Amino acid sequence: MDLDSLFTVDEFEAVAQRKLDPVYYDYIAGGSRDEVTVRANLDGFGRLSLLPRVLRGSAQRDLAVTLFGARSSMPILISPTAFHRLVCTEGELATARAAARADTIMIASMASTVAVGEVAAAARAAAPADHEPTLWFQLYLQPDLDDTTALIARATKAGCKALVVTVDSPVLGANERNHRNRFHDLPPGMACENLRNLRGDEPGNVRQIAMSPELSWDHIDWLREHTELPVLLKGVLHPEDARIAVDHGVSGLLLSNHGGRQLDTVPATIDLLPEFVEAVGGRVPLLLDGGVRRGTDVVKALALGAVAVGVGRPIVWGLAAGGEDGATRVLELLRDELDHTVALCGARGLADLTPDLVRPAAGSRR
Ligand code: FNR
Repeated sequence: MDLDSLFTVDEFEAVAQRKLDPVYYDYIAGGSRDEVTVRANLDGFGRLSLLPRVLRGSAQRDLAVTLFGARSSMPILISPTAFHRLVCTEGELATARAAARADTIMIASMASTVAVGEVAAAARAAAPADHEPTLWFQLYLQPDLDDTTALIARATKAGCKALVVTVDSPVLGANERNHRNRFHDLPPGMACENLRNLRGDEPGNVRQIAMSPELSWDHIDWLREHTELPVLLKGVLHPEDARIAVDHGVSGLLLSNHGGRQLDTVPATIDLLPEFVEAVGGRVPLLLDGGVRRGTDVVKALALGAVAVGVGRPIVWGLAAGGEDGATRVLELLRDELDHTVALCGARGLADLTPDLVRPAAGSRR
């Protein structure tokens, strides 16, 4: 595949769809139930216009952000997605190398098909000599707190710099494409490696990720007492919960509806962002993911108050189309589009992206 002939995330998706087993394509592309929220995430950006300023730009546009002490060369992070070995043989090792090469932050999924220690080592080996790559760890709090403790220890030992706790999954979302395709388990030879031999007492045993509707704010308090790392919550959607999260001392929020894969018919994250900004009142940084496919989407999210965005499916499409190089090209295309959009908005950098640049618009992007 000549990756240089692909110019958009959507083109990467089309190539991925051609290459992948349709069962895996459906698993990745799909969402829960009627996929109303999957579409809403994309449409939400489409319904916003950008209103540029003129005669005040700069030839040097710094796109870097610093998040919890770690610098990323751009405000586009890799959101955690499971099972990368389904789409490319190197799996999360390829993703980690792509993130390190692009000098951005990878949020490693707990449901990774490569153990987080190996993911971190791959990132370090691929990073430029003077540069320490940043990995965060996405955690599903396990109701058995000894399991959670063991997972935190693994992530910390691997050098992860933050814990991103996904709180939108009291139960698993219902992806009906998976039901129809009878896709319930990883194929032989692949497993959630972070859960292998978790407590050191069962060689070869890989635990199932447990989800529990009985997790509570007490668990967040417990977590904060059991780690020195910044704790972000991913998947808070109600602005009142955003306020509660800040009161419980979380370090940041990743406004996410899990790419439309948990509760269907929740709003697009970009539509919730203004309310979140108001609820949080600048007390912690806000990140957002869901439906980011273009540099203009990134600019809209930043203008409305996010400090950075995450991309989920675009990275998986990149991996499927061309492994590490494919994921790297997706990141570089998004970086170029972001820089170009910043320039066209008459902005000198990210600080010039203010809410007045965004207006309601007619029309869908696709
Ligand atoms: C996800 N997502 C996800 N989130 C999480 O917290 N832990 C996980 O293991 C996964 N796994 C996962 C697998 C796949 C195939 C997808 C598509 C998504 C959700 C992910 O972090 C993110 O919120 C969305 O993917 C963002 O939306 P876009 O960028 O895919 O539109």
